[in-house]
Amino acid sequence: MRNIDEHTITPAILAQLQRCDNPRLQVLLSALVQHLHDFMREVKLTEDELMEGIRFLTATGHKCDDRRQEFILLSDVLGLSMLAVAQNQKKAPGATESTVFGPFHVADAPRFNNGDDMAAGAPGEPLYVNCTVTGLDGEPVADAKVDVWQADDEGQYDVQYADLPHPRARGVFRTDAQGRFWFRSILPAAYPIPTDGPVGRLLVATGRHPWRPAHVHFMVEAPGYEPLITHVFRDCDPYLDSDVVFGVRSSLMAPFARHEPGPTPDGGRSDQPFHTLNFDFRLQPRAS
Ligand code: BEZ
Ligand code: FE
Repeated sequence: MRNIDEHTITPAILAQLQRCDNPRLQVLLSALVQHLHDFMREVKLTEDELMEGIRFLTATGHKCDDRRQEFILLSDVLGLSMLAVAQNQKKAPGATESTVFGPFHVADAPRFNNGDDMAAGAPGEPLYVNCTVTGLDGEPVADAKVDVWQADDEGQYDVQYADLPHPRARGVFRTDAQGRFWFRSILPAAYPIPTDGPVGRLLVATGRHPWRPAHVHFMVEAPGYEPLITHVFRDCDPYLDSDVVFGVRSSLMAPFARHEPGPTPDGGRSDQPFHTLNFDFRLQPRAS
């Protein structure tokens, strides 16, 4: 333990971690220390660079509050969030794939009946969404809880506006006996993730853009099935191949078909262009 140099310091800490009585914590911290030390040796990290990293993480923490989670954003742009999804939520063939949760879900969103308009005044061209929820054998999943949230046509979620009196473009639906749910909303736009903090500065410094392709988020829960957290992406979006958080999967891309003014799927009429989205979610049975 004396006369430590840049090589002996690693086994010295690993030896101390042997005393940890939580086996999983010991595995995690030992591997973390090993990789961090290897990283520092590989890049020959200077003391100034170490301090700059500490300042960056400090600023990241200072940016966090009840409405903003800058560390999750950091995890997202470094690909950690999507790596966690990819290695922990592998799906059986045919099951709908998962993607990142993101920071804009709100618990206890308004409940709606099928056919309702969840936009609640959010700006955008009308979108009529028609979906089914089935199991892997195509059996309808009745009474599934489906939480939906999305950005408006300015690429903003309701929680990003300072003083909205009520939630917009989010809601909770239930599937009917045939496993269907349907609602009206607005066409989502592509949007930049928040860039007014350290993560935004990191993107600029590394020459990366902050954009996510247009999408609608869905979280589907039903007894006997694995919960599904996913999005449906607009299949013509220019950012599909450069999503800043690496969340796009081909199986989650779908046409948001554009229609001229005229009759709408709910039996009404639109005097402006509108869009339709059809998507079928296939849930994986819960692992026993
Ligand atoms: C989102 O899709 O809402 C999102 C995901 C990761 C970072 C920022 C936003
Ligand atoms: Fe989103």
